Amino acid sequence: MIPKISTLGGYIFEYQKSVSNPTGFWNNIAESFYWRKKWSSVLEWDFLRGDAQWFKGAKLNLTENIFERHMFFRANQPALVWEPNDPDEAHRSLTYEELFDEVNKFANVLKSLGVLKGDRVAIYLPMVPELVIAMLACARIGAIHSIIFAGFSAQSLSERMIDAGATILITSDGGYRGNKTIPIKAIADEAMENCQCVKTAIILKRTGEEVAMQPGRDFWWSDLIADVGIHCPATEMDAEDPLFILYTSGSTGKPKGLVHTTGGYMVYSAYTFKNVFQYGDGDIYFCSADIGWITGHTYLVYGPLLAGATSLMFEGIPTWPDAGRFWDIIDKHQVNQFYTAPTAIRSLMALGMEWLNNKDLSSLKVLGTVGEPINEAAWHWYHDHIGKNRCPIVDTWWQTETGGIMISPMAGITPTKPSYATMPLMGIQPKIVNHEGKELMGNSVEGNLCIAFPWPGMARTIWKDHDRFIKTYFTAYPGLYFTGDGVKRDEDGYYRILGRVDDVINVSGHRLGTAEIENAINEHPLVDESAVVGYPHAIKGQGIYAFVVCPQFSTGGEEGIKTSIQLAVTNMIGPFAKPDKIQIVNGLPKTRSGKIMRRILMKIAAGQIDNFGDITTLLNPEIIQTIIADKNDSESKASN
Ligand code: WTA
Repeated sequence: MIPKISTLGGYIFEYQKSVSNPTGFWNNIAESFYWRKKWSSVLEWDFLRGDAQWFKGAKLNLTENIFERHMFFRANQPALVWEPNDPDEAHRSLTYEELFDEVNKFANVLKSLGVLKGDRVAIYLPMVPELVIAMLACARIGAIHSIIFAGFSAQSLSERMIDAGATILITSDGGYRGNKTIPIKAIADEAMENCQCVKTAIILKRTGEEVAMQPGRDFWWSDLIADVGIHCPATEMDAEDPLFILYTSGSTGKPKGLVHTTGGYMVYSAYTFKNVFQYGDGDIYFCSADIGWITGHTYLVYGPLLAGATSLMFEGIPTWPDAGRFWDIIDKHQVNQFYTAPTAIRSLMALGMEWLNNKDLSSLKVLGTVGEPINEAAWHWYHDHIGKNRCPIVDTWWQTETGGIMISPMAGITPTKPSYATMPLMGIQPKIVNHEGKELMGNSVEGNLCIAFPWPGMARTIWKDHDRFIKTYFTAYPGLYFTGDGVKRDEDGYYRILGRVDDVINVSGHRLGTAEIENAINEHPLVDESAVVGYPHAIKGQGIYAFVVCPQFSTGGEEGIKTSIQLAVTNMIGPFAKPDKIQIVNGLPKTRSGKIMRRILMKIAAGQIDNFGDITTLLNPEIIQTIIADKNDSESKASN
């Protein structure tokens, strides 16, 4: 798609060209897709109003760009290779033609159930091919999918379905994850009880366990698919029609339903996929992310399939049946590009080198990481032992909001530096600003990361709440998109992401709002209030530390209350949001206006015992030393 560049100089030349005329640049990229009608303008935008419209007036259907566009050359090429949780179960492979048939059939199922263009379809499925089939079937008929990660609790699922106004839910009887079976349908049933909008559920059989089927509401996937035709004409969409809603965490308790639209997301996901991973014809590409998160949306499904790639999806976890599972999959399927999260790398690294014995890994050409900063030790381990010193690592920085990769090496083109996301991709204009909003020019600077110009893959709004979209991303620094991340630009102009500067934490690559976890903890009847912060964690990147005030709990019952707080979080959000540490405290450090001083708690959680900076505005400065003393006390008890 872009001319092959072979040096950093070449990159800089192309980059300068792209940002001096971004609309011309994206116009040319977009030309290579199939549009039923071309756009009247490439871009109209106004960041002050949180507004960007790409390829206005154009008509298309994204699935025609996956299927019809590739069918002549790729009908018999695997589009999707599925590796099951259990290595003894057979893997599945669907060619472009086979996947197309399944998508058409399921699109006809949705139509037969009355799903129309613009309707919201909730999807709560484990990592099975039908998840991809379901999302592409929605895209085929112009329904808006909203996928909810299958680790979320019933409450989180119902909240999201209500917010999206979903009328139909696609789910399964159960799901496999390592040696566990997850009762997906039971969770979905509980969620549906609490939301009136969902009238129909389609249930895929995966585990075969007994489930309750509600007559008139619940239908088996296999029954519905048996009666439908194999052809489903694609619904014509405007470039700016929504393609999907994906919920993500922010600074406040309520998750945000970010809306991605059809034309721009299509162009951006395919373009960035091809160029970052340097995907070549015949390569096998493996992204280990769950489709319930943005990485799975963009770089397991849309980007690769739009680019005509073979995308491998894995149902299980990296440590089951043993910690060599990823490497076995790579050898079995001769994977060429592998994309995973730093947490997975760190946890496998901690389990020792023996799991690499007898693994070949010679098929690998490119390694990628995403979702959180990668520390140098993990970068080197990945580079030396997985990539055998010959595979470039693409450390890709981006967000649910950006839709696709923004700052990253392009494999084999951009010289890499451990723990640096390196350089912006073509057309992307990062700016670093200080707290006053002043742009920090030149190299060797550190501040907040903003983007100065739209890109086609950006989210267009928060579902039903454009004001919140403007407030969250476009008001801190008027005229700029604010990412919420801190960043450093080093002496060579390389970008290193420093982590979130807001109340969002990144735990094992999962993005969580501290307010969301606090809300869950505060639901506990004995809890008065709580404050949740992140702290450095050797494997997870950040761990969750909860300071909890519960004056009425009986002493000696500390373990009991901690367990029931964990349960409250599991029930409200999901097991992945459980605090790693809970400290029961008498009070929280607060300013005279009643605001919790989180920066102090963050320092305490990280093990700091003095140098808390300016605490003159604190109402109760003595609480700091009490919290530290109690922390030391309980830690020494724990280690005895
Ligand atoms: C963080 C995931 C450092 C960052 C695609 C961002 C990263 C948040 C990187 C978005 C990286 C993502 N290096 N930090 N390569 N990639 N992040 O929405 O804090 O789940 O704002 O999207 O993850 O998380 P999200």
